Amino acid sequence: MPKVVFLNEKREIEVPEGANLRQEARKAGIELYRGIHRYLNCRGHGLCGSCKVLVKSGMENLSPKGWLESFKLATMLSSIGHEDEMRLACQVTVHGDCAIETRPAFNLSGEPFWVRPYPNK
Ligand code: FES
Repeated sequence: MPKVVFLNEKREIEVPEGANLRQEARKAGIELYRGIHRYLNCRGHGLCGSCKVLVKSGMENLSPKGWLESFKLATMLSSIGHEDEMRLACQVTVHGDCAIETRPAFNLSGEPFWVRPYPNK
């Protein structure tokens, strides 16, 4: 069975192949939501974006992004600087080992945010 490591919580859980990341985290008592989003979220339909996580390793062992998840992440300010590693836990199925950071912080001071898209001429 795949192992999922939750880095902030310092916990490792085993999940069935193809399990939904949000559901398994909630079963294990891992909090995915910040603040009021614990109560106000879309319950795993991929609409609110509040279950965002960073995949620190094992992205290749997760299901690929679907169009809904890709669209939602593209419209979220918090994905700036985390484009390659941010996923919505409710849209992810686990097929192998991975390491997850829950409740990621904004990366407004991170280098990718301030990089200009075009070089100076
Ligand atoms: S719970 Fe709303 S997007 Fe995942």
